Amino acid sequence: MAGLTVGFGEYTHAIVRGVPASLPKEALRMNEANDDVDLARARREHELYVGVLMHKLGLQIVELPVDDSLPDSVFVEDAAVVCGDTALITRPGALGRRKETEIVKKALTDLHLNIVEMIDESATLDGGDVLFTGREFFVGLSKRTNQRGAEILADAFKDYAVSTVPIYDALHLKSFCSMAGPGLLVIGSSDGAQKALKVFERLKDHMLIPVPLTQMAKVDGSLSCCSILVNKRREM
Ligand code: GLY
Repeated sequence: MAGLTVGFGEYTHAIVRGVPASLPKEALRMNEANDDVDLARARREHELYVGVLMHKLGLQIVELPVDDSLPDSVFVEDAAVVCGDTALITRPGALGRRKETEIVKKALTDLHLNIVEMIDESATLDGGDVLFTGREFFVGLSKRTNQRGAEILADAFKDYAVSTVPIYDALHLKSFCSMAGPGLLVIGSSDGAQKALKVFERLKDHMLIPVPLTQMAKVDGSLSCCSILVNKRREM
């Protein structure tokens, strides 16, 4: 297996998109009982999140315009996978979310990344199912992402091994795990997370900057969903 990619975990830009007014009523959710999203609070929490990316992490923010016709569009992560200077524009598993990729593609083109598009109509992939460890990719096979999507991702990022992980009881792979730093994977304690853990190599404690996302969580959003991180400083 290749060593840790140079520059892993270092970013210069974050692409984000504000919370649409349609999110509380129309955003997709696994639990239909979660119908009490507080829009004002969701927007305050999102502003805090963007503030952390900008002021604590020093990232340049690329803010895409809010679009009320796309209720899940705050979750920009699902529209693209960026690694090094390549951006794979995804084919989101939810039909109603496919249009979200258009403006994300434009933003990534403006950042002069090499754009690869997932045009195979049998493929689906949400960025929330893609975890890059710095050495390899894990792709969650979920209700949103299929084997063909994982194969196309492997074609787009040929330098890296790609393993698939079946997802149970969660929307996406990154609904319950994420990278906390080079070589450091954090994973939740739910049954679905622990089943998936068997596929991963190691788990350690780490420090976090707490950022509440209580309202977006009601529509299955988590922290990584709300940004696409890009490194324009150095080759990866
Ligand atoms: N609400 C996030 C999603 O279902 O894609």
